[in-house]
Amino acid sequence: MRLTPEEQGMLAGEQGRATQRAMEIIVTLGHIYEAERLLDVHSVQVAGVSYRNLGEAGLEFLRDWAAEGARVRVPTTLNPAGMDLVRWQHMGISQEYARKQLETIEVYAAMGIQPTCTCAPYLVGNVPGYGEHIAWSESSAVVYANSVLGARTNREGGPSALAAAICGRTAEYGLHCDANRRATLRVEVRCAVCGLDEYAALGYLVGRDVGGGVPYFVGLSMAPLDAGSADVPQEGTSQDALQTHDALKLLGAALASSGAVALYHVQGVTPEACIEGVRPGVDLCPCGIPRLVIESLEPAITALNASVESIDLVVIGCPHASLEELRQVATLITARSPRGQRLVSDLWVTMPRRVREQGEALGLVQVIEEAGGQVIADGCVVVAPMQELPYHTLATNSAKMASYALPHAGLQVRFGSLERCINAAITGCWPTHQP
Ligand code: F3S
Repeated sequence: MRLTPEEQGMLAGEQGRATQRAMEIIVTLGHIYEAERLLDVHSVQVAGVSYRNLGEAGLEFLRDWAAEGARVRVPTTLNPAGMDLVRWQHMGISQEYARKQLETIEVYAAMGIQPTCTCAPYLVGNVPGYGEHIAWSESSAVVYANSVLGARTNREGGPSALAAAICGRTAEYGLHCDANRRATLRVEVRCAVCGLDEYAALGYLVGRDVGGGVPYFVGLSMAPLDAGSADVPQEGTSQDALQTHDALKLLGAALASSGAVALYHVQGVTPEACIEGVRPGVDLCPCGIPRLVIESLEPAITALNASVESIDLVVIGCPHASLEELRQVATLITARSPRGQRLVSDLWVTMPRRVREQGEALGLVQVIEEAGGQVIADGCVVVAPMQELPYHTLATNSAKMASYALPHAGLQVRFGSLERCINAAITGCWPTHQP
């Protein structure tokens, strides 16, 4: 692998032990994947934030690196923590856990990382441009960055993403290269796919089939992303386009959880599938690749639903909710639950802190909280210390949450539309005749 003189110096320790350690990780990965050179990265998303997952050994590892002088040299954002960093007591989190979680965030912040604590960094300003090389961890964020924004990243682990942030480099292999961004499976969708839960169910089905490949969807009827199609919703973005962003977000998260998908294309919608044929030498969906026909989403709905009726907790916002999703939750509660009536189940809507603040300014947070729900910033159920909390069953509209809740949080799950989830929060149950 060719290194520039500056990179050789970094590897030799000329810029300190912390940078040298980061370069050792990046160069080792480069050798393993037979990269020819390193690339400058424009931004990084670091996972490995919840103290429940890190434990004392992980926190010690971070403290050591920070004490050696580790500082990020590109804009770097952080994945969700195991709790709302401000309102953790409302979630029932113990003081002991909270203390360790807050210390973890402080160590990351000391390295110059923005404590955004979200798996949707593109909702809070970390928006890579089309074709930019980045190094992101968090599978749902990776698949969104590659597919919806057209940026280029592999599925980094927490340590390799942090190393990339500290030395500003990643190795050129995998999805940084044109050839690996071509489809490996053509997916022909022949059934209606409408709500966010249906996009999630589709992702779950296809992810099981495609594994770590690149699916290319045809037959999906979605509004186009807005001008340039490589940006997040701005003020004035049409309602349809907002729904496309959210649908693609849930589709990708599901693909990345039942499979190991880091990139997908939707014909005529995602940016690379819009400019097909324009870039010479790139045939995004080559003839002769395997084909998968989806006639029904039922197999996913069956697989993701346990036979539980009583619902303790409803979770919306996996990946973290946009302002539009928050608005939909508030609207459903207003429409279906008489003012003053408290929800029977607990309801958590998880999102970036900035979106929570926007929702508060619009009065949306207040609608949910007055009904007894919680609008949780910074946190994620899957990495929260759920064993400390009194929940056994969960309802969600996210296939990723539905497939992770049992193995990671020990919760039996009901999966379905946002409307059914909010009904479950209002009534405390999920009728068996509606799977
Ligand atoms: Fe985000 Fe947690 Fe879901 S990290 S994608 S809310 S499992």
